[in-house]
Amino acid sequence: MITLPPLPFEKNALEPYISATTLEFHYGKHHQAYVDNFNKLSAGTEFENMPLEEVIKKATGGIFNNGAQVWNHTFYWNCLNKPDTTKPSDKLLKAIENQFGSLDNFKEQFSNAAVTLFGSGWAWLCKDEFGKLYINQTSNAENPIKNGLTPIMTIDVWEHAYYLDKQNRRPDYVKDFWHILNWDFVNQLY
Ligand SMILES: [Fe+2]
Repeated sequence: MITLPPLPFEKNALEPYISATTLEFHYGKHHQAYVDNFNKLSAGTEFENMPLEEVIKKATGGIFNNGAQVWNHTFYWNCLNKPDTTKPSDKLLKAIENQFGSLDNFKEQFSNAAVTLFGSGWAWLCKDEFGKLYINQTSNAENPIKNGLTPIMTIDVWEHAYYLDKQNRRPDYVKDFWHILNWDFVNQLY
């Protein structure tokens, strides 16, 4: 049995890039529905009280889909904050520059992964056990934890993340993401 974690900011904190209305639906309806469905489907099974990281590794079908989507959304909210308030740490910036050439190149490659993902899913920045960075795309509820990687940043590119604000313009949503990215959270996980 899990409960919907509180949003780490006020519903209007991400404006003008993500509206309070989007958050009312995306957090209040979609995220809540994943929590409710997970509780319904996992009741009486081995997954009922399992940490969600374990559910992601072991479950399939509806229990996986809903459990992973609960984790993915909680993680996504932590990746966001008030516009233009944080920046990458020296340590993370150095790793990004080593692997991607520059911060701008990294942003371009990550944005490209987010924009080109076909259908619904997520783009991720992950690290492996050696601190090497990876940009990943996953479909639907899939999560790189399943492949042994540790996510340190994500963007939700399901249409429900941007449709109310941007309609079909996913590239505009991805462009705005950089203003509200919570680098402090990413720095801490790197
Ligand atoms: Fe979402």
